[in-house]
Amino acid sequence: MPYEKVPLIRVEPPGPKARAIVEKDHRFCSPSYTRPYPFVMARGEGAVVEDVDGNVYLDFTSGVAVLNTGHCHPEVVQAIQRQASTFVHMAGTDFYYSLMADLAERLARLPGEGEWRVFFTNSGTESIEAAMKLARWVTGRTDFIAFYGAFHGRTYGSLALTASKAVHKRRFGPSVGVVHHVPYPNPYRPFGQVPQEHCTDVTLTFIEEYTLKRTAHPEDVAAVIVEPIQGEGGYVFPPPDFLPRLRALTDKYGILLIIDEVQTGMGRTGRWFAYQHSGIQPDIIAVAKGIASGLPLGCILARSHLMTWPMGAHANTFGANPVACAAALKTLDLLQGGLMERARTLGNYLRERLQALMDRHSTIGRVEGLGLLVGLELVMDRVRREPFPALRDEVVHRCFRRGLLLLGCGDSTIRFIPPLVVEKEQIDTAVAIFSEALRECEGAAEKYK
Ligand SMILES: Cc1ncc(COP(=O)(O)O)c(C=O)c1O
Repeated sequence: MPYEKVPLIRVEPPGPKARAIVEKDHRFCSPSYTRPYPFVMARGEGAVVEDVDGNVYLDFTSGVAVLNTGHCHPEVVQAIQRQASTFVHMAGTDFYYSLMADLAERLARLPGEGEWRVFFTNSGTESIEAAMKLARWVTGRTDFIAFYGAFHGRTYGSLALTASKAVHKRRFGPSVGVVHHVPYPNPYRPFGQVPQEHCTDVTLTFIEEYTLKRTAHPEDVAAVIVEPIQGEGGYVFPPPDFLPRLRALTDKYGILLIIDEVQTGMGRTGRWFAYQHSGIQPDIIAVAKGIASGLPLGCILARSHLMTWPMGAHANTFGANPVACAAALKTLDLLQGGLMERARTLGNYLRERLQALMDRHSTIGRVEGLGLLVGLELVMDRVRREPFPALRDEVVHRCFRRGLLLLGCGDSTIRFIPPLVVEKEQIDTAVAIFSEALRECEGAAEKYK
């Protein structure tokens, strides 16, 4: 590691070089991008990134759960370089190359039971589109059930499923597809304020007694699509009985179950996919983000007997790009070779360290995690559990100025999703920076209410 002291803030960010780039970006790039603070990347290594003014930060965002192997893992870089000097593109939809078949074979084995096939995409939203199209193709049905708080992407099919923030949908209607939204079981804020042990009951009753009886005939519903842990919606962890009972319900009506593992997948929770902690088997799995260590790649995995669409029914130009495939194959090696195990052990450590802060900080409402996917929610007070977005935003901002990159999600949650190569000492440093920033803000908490 070339950096002796991390983090290291040399110039109050944004420094002069960062300011110039931000200015140009604001002039020429779409204003729709959501940047919480002006971090301007120059380079990265492992869990450390440097900005253009020489400030050095701990990255606890992983480029939004993408860089599970860390920034510029030398073996991934080598695989990319090697493939880039061999051939960069050949359109896997029209021609063959072994990288594509090799990667499909490796991915098809990840669910661990039964026969699976792979369709390659370039992003999360495109994986969701593919999953929706396949579900309609297989079932001949039109409708979908999705969850309030869900984020599945922003193209028209996935946007119809997304229901985490109204701004994502405003003035983009009418929506395509027929989607029925139902409450996600959120034990911290159960729908209808039922006792938290009943929140799965509420969701399943809602689906059966309201959606399937009153708004959508079961034989019109192609699939239920669900995140095993809601991501953009606020790192909401459902109760353990949720996925098994949802699977039983979909089986009862012959409805497919699509699991969106775009944010939770590829080893981040300590297993290949987060649903694997629940013991169920889905029908289709949507994957992207962490699959290729930062190269744009995604896929769906579908049970082989479902992937029956004929030649020409669905394809794309860039899916399974050979450079991305080379990065993905190396990513799989690294995850299998110890990083998933690190996600488990260091994830527990990070979660416990953050939970320990609850004694000192009354604004921390909850800390929950699975592997290195940890969410910490700030609230106005622990009894009423009212979200505290202004405090959350201020703390995230102050962490940035102290050399720690974090991202919010939901109304009031902060996500801690470092690369799986993160060191224990880096976790200690991050927790200390976060605690210090929160302490400063809590001193003036009234100001943010
Ligand atoms: C669970 C989930 N699904 C789908 C998407 C969309 O992925 P992309 O931004 O690559 O289109 C995201 C992105 O954050 C996500 O978290």
